[in-house]
Amino acid sequence: MKILAFFGGARKNGNTLAMLNYLLDQLEGEKEIINCYSLNVSPCTDCRYCFKHRACSIKDEMVDIYRKVDEADIIIFAAPTYFFGIPGKMKVMIDRFQMYWSGVKRGDLPEKFTKKGAYLMSGGGPLFDTQFTGGGLELSEALVVTNTKKVGAVLMDDADIVTNLAQRPEIKEKILEIANLLK
Ligand SMILES: Cc1cc2nc3c(=O)[nH]c(=O)nc-3n(C[C@H](O)[C@H](O)[C@H](O)COP(=O)(O)O)c2cc1C
Repeated sequence: MKILAFFGGARKNGNTLAMLNYLLDQLEGEKEIINCYSLNVSPCTDCRYCFKHRACSIKDEMVDIYRKVDEADIIIFAAPTYFFGIPGKMKVMIDRFQMYWSGVKRGDLPEKFTKKGAYLMSGGGPLFDTQFTGGGLELSEALVVTNTKKVGAVLMDDADIVTNLAQRPEIKEKILEIANLLK
């Protein structure tokens, strides 16, 4: 079982990575976390090369990421909310998933979801209606285009007052539920 996780946050000692590590601890298999802040990936140029080829015209670190996504059985995204969306470095990488979306144009979309996945998000403020709407839509679509069936999502509001995941037993409980669905 290959588990590929994308971490989009700036802080390595923050709540988002703590949630991701807690989820990964529950899963068995070959695990890898890709830290989007460390990636050297250029933005999509909408050149439309991928309308005709199952590849991207830009040959950078995405070449490896496409291969890892293709090989993964489980895909997880973990991101803090930055201005109602996901952090920029993760967004730049996900825009390059246009190569997957373009299966619509190429006519080679896979027939059904072959992977399982989930996303975890944190937001600094207390919960309000649209706090996770922007980021949630982006990450849901990133799962869809990578042929990944979303089993669920965990959203941690009020994250700016949390210094330890142990302070949020209800979040840990939700992560355990997601872990069981991913198994
Ligand atoms: C650039 C930036 C933008 C942010 N925008 C939002 C926001 O729109 N909504 C929100 O609830 N929190 C916002 N926050 C707070 C972060 O979501 C919060 O600090 C984060 O969940 C902490 O995650 P971490 O502990 O993994 O770093 C923002 C923080 C930064 C740095």
